[in-house]
Amino acid sequence: MSQLLLGQMSFSQCPNLGSVPVNMISVSCILALGLFWSALGKDFQEEVKLSGLRKLLMAFDEERRDLETSDLSKRSTGLNEQTCTALPAVESTLQNSTHTFTFKMRNMGLLSLAWVGDGSGVLLVLTTFQVPLFTMHFGQSNLYRSEDYGKTFKDVTHLINHTFILSEFGIAISPDHSGKLILTGDVSETGGFQLFRSQDFGLTFVPTVLPFEPLIQMLYNPVDSNALLTLSLKLDLWLSEDFGATWRKIHDHVCLVRWGPKNSIFFTTNYNESCNDKGNLELRKTTDYGRSFVTIATRVYSFVLGGKFVFASIMTGKGTERLIHVSVDGGEVWNIAQLPTVNHEQFYSILAATQDMIFMHVDDPGDSGVGTIYVSDDRGTVFSKSLERHLYTTTGSDTDFSTISSLRGVYMTSVLTEDGAVETVITFDQGAKWQTLRRPQNSHCDTETSTNRPNRCRLYIHASYSITMKMDVPMLPLSQPNAVGLIVAHGSVGDAESTVSPDVYVSDDGGYSWHLALRGPHHYAILDSGGLLVAVEHTNLPVSQIKFSTDEGQCWHTYKFTSDPVFFSGLDSEPGSRSMNVSLWGYRNNVSKWVVITIDFRKLLTRDCTEVDYVEWLAHSADPSGPNEGCVLGYKETFLRLRKDSVCWNGRNYAVTKKLSPCPCQVDDYHCDFGYYRPENSTECVEQEEMKKHPLEFCLNGTAEQLQTSGYRKIPGDQCEGGFQPERKEIHLRRGCTSNALHPNSLSETSSPNAAIIVMVVLVILLSSAVAGVWLVKKYVCGGRYLVQRYSVMREHVEANKIEGVDDIDAEYMETGKAQYNEDSDQDLLE
Ligand SMILES: *[C@@H]1O[C@H](CO)[C@@H](O)[C@H](O)[C@H]1NC(C)=O
Ligand SMILES: *[C@@H]1O[C@H](CO)[C@@H](O)[C@H](O)[C@H]1NC(C)=O
Ligand SMILES: *[C@@H]1O[C@H](CO)[C@@H](O)[C@H](O)[C@H]1NC(C)=O
Ligand SMILES: *[C@@H]1O[C@H](CO)[C@@H](O)[C@H](O)[C@H]1NC(C)=O
Repeated sequence: MSQLLLGQMSFSQCPNLGSVPVNMISVSCILALGLFWSALGKDFQEEVKLSGLRKLLMAFDEERRDLETSDLSKRSTGLNEQTCTALPAVESTLQNSTHTFTFKMRNMGLLSLAWVGDGSGVLLVLTTFQVPLFTMHFGQSNLYRSEDYGKTFKDVTHLINHTFILSEFGIAISPDHSGKLILTGDVSETGGFQLFRSQDFGLTFVPTVLPFEPLIQMLYNPVDSNALLTLSLKLDLWLSEDFGATWRKIHDHVCLVRWGPKNSIFFTTNYNESCNDKGNLELRKTTDYGRSFVTIATRVYSFVLGGKFVFASIMTGKGTERLIHVSVDGGEVWNIAQLPTVNHEQFYSILAATQDMIFMHVDDPGDSGVGTIYVSDDRGTVFSKSLERHLYTTTGSDTDFSTISSLRGVYMTSVLTEDGAVETVITFDQGAKWQTLRRPQNSHCDTETSTNRPNRCRLYIHASYSITMKMDVPMLPLSQPNAVGLIVAHGSVGDAESTVSPDVYVSDDGGYSWHLALRGPHHYAILDSGGLLVAVEHTNLPVSQIKFSTDEGQCWHTYKFTSDPVFFSGLDSEPGSRSMNVSLWGYRNNVSKWVVITIDFRKLLTRDCTEVDYVEWLAHSADPSGPNEGCVLGYKETFLRLRKDSVCWNGRNYAVTKKLSPCPCQVDDYHCDFGYYRPENSTECVEQEEMKKHPLEFCLNGTAEQLQTSGYRKIPGDQCEGGFQPERKEIHLRRGCTSNALHPNSLSETSSPNAAIIVMVVLVILLSSAVAGVWLVKKYVCGGRYLVQRYSVMREHVEANKIEGVDDIDAEYMETGKAQYNEDSDQDLLE
């Protein structure tokens, strides 16, 4: 997560600082941020980490200087021009499908947009202007509504009675596409807060006075959008079961709350009235909307929900020692997570969670800025090594780790090599093996360079780390589940992060092969389930052109959408990448005049796609590796994909068609087990020197277990049958043990033979789109006052409860790269 985004999040989630007594401010921010980095500074010895980062920065600066002296290639639109054929009558066709709408208003501080429903075409735009500092009450809001995918808007401010809407609370849209949404208004003149609730896609609103002052945005129950949760400024937990019409206080002294699976609510509570008193919290749970409660853990420092797992860091009772505990049954049975030897000062972080397993980053000793990724088993307790030298700077909490949602099992991130270069690596089998990216076919890495310095010709993909490094990277890598195999990302060919101005690269096979698509940085979007890509150049100058491609980024065409260029802020289309309408947001000379230019590409792709437009494609087959070609996690998938040369419309109802066939087990279906690793270029798992003759003993549900392994553990979720079946046993040692530190009396037992090593842990759940849509537009001076003008997109999937993905974090929510919430917690042990 970049600092930029973090800053945005903290701003946008710290509610109403103006009216809160100062001592409450920190509390409210910390809470609203979930478990953001509030404690990081203290716990992680910021200076140390900073110096690590500074080193990286310096290395990077040298690279940059190197490059600035070499000649930077000129930017041009559309590559491969020789082989591309022009589409007929682009200008005349699209001109009739281009709609410009100008927002006329005097001031415009913040512009937020939100799509309501799925395929409804309804887009709400909320503009709030507020005089900065502690004078929030001079704020002013306007609400606009479009029913035609952004082509025209109506000013509907009267529907909310011209109330000042707290933009920090956002437009809370129900995750189930039922058209419910809530705006939180500040009516402090009359003393209070008012909800404007709509159940008809924003056509009408019902005002409701809130019986408390809200601290965080309303959280929708993911499975019942009539049930809402929120915290009040007094840290009371309030629940509504009738979509906000009436509210019931169900608990007091609540620090952090999350919806869990099956209508459950998890929260931490503190009776000493300070949520800063971490380590003294109780983790409680209710499954009947607050009519009864159970305490599932005490002495809790923090907790996080991810996939089917509940993680909590729990004080051992000795000083500030904390241990990470994991539960897969909602907190009834806890076990201590088992990780290989670590020393204190290290931190841990959860990078991604699926229903079956998690990826956990463990910081290396010292201030190296790197660590090791471990993958868990399906109980979240036994971990094995997946990737070393994983780049993760703690200062900005930056990692490039991203889930590629367009192909199963694919994750991409960056490593820092021994000689200080940053390199992109990718895994196609959920972390079992990692490899560097292939050189793009059409990159011009001259032969001299490629023979003398092969590293110089590797492709580096820019993600969060580059953004923190203030590189010209306007967007994170983009992939969508319905655009099979497609990844659009900024990249550079050469030593790692060397290029000052990255180019746009596209992969059409889930990251095995890449090609240079556009020179220079761009904003991009995937439309029509991958049938259409659009891009707008990222520059400080006004723009008048949009580029588009109907063949997955091989050939690009340009369309001049205006004769009066606009300062471009960002582009947006309906979430889910099924739309054919794309909106470009920006302003002309006068900054108070926002324009939205919406282009409907439907007229260009006149023909509906038919059977002959699709070809069969075996996923994961780009790497020629024998008869089990295409086998990943135990099965092959054959997709029907649009031919590149087909210029046609997939349509809104396009569904990905695929055939599955099982595979026999091979060595690739296994992670290296605890204490084993795969040497570079090897598929065999080798025992770690330091682990030899130390079989893992661990405690599971109160009984000691010994792990007898030949080095292989099946990847969680792998469905292979027969074939390679290495031996692996967990033997009950028939001796009791303490599988958790929840019961203080038993602590003495745990600590005797295996003194647990306690480290600090940061749990970071990377879910997608959470912050993907929020970005800074422009700082400008207006009438002598500094205003921050921002443009933000509130995605439906970005709604608070979705972000947490409490019950079901999987690829679907990991669509657009990153999102996050973090938790400091801690950990753990080993023999
Ligand atoms: C609209 O606001 C005014 C005060 O600004 C108030 O008197 C009036 O009752 C409000 N109407 C509704 C429907 O809330
Ligand atoms: C509240 O804090 C005091 C010290 O400030 C501590 O002794 C006491 O145990 C705490 N109570 C609870 C319930 O955590
Ligand atoms: C584009 O917008 C129009 C309305 O302006 C709508 O009728 C059409 O369905 C949209 N196209 C897609 C593919 O969403
Ligand atoms: C791994 O393979 C690459 C290319 O095939 C080679 O350059 C490298 O030296 C190999 N590494 C090891 C440790 O064998």
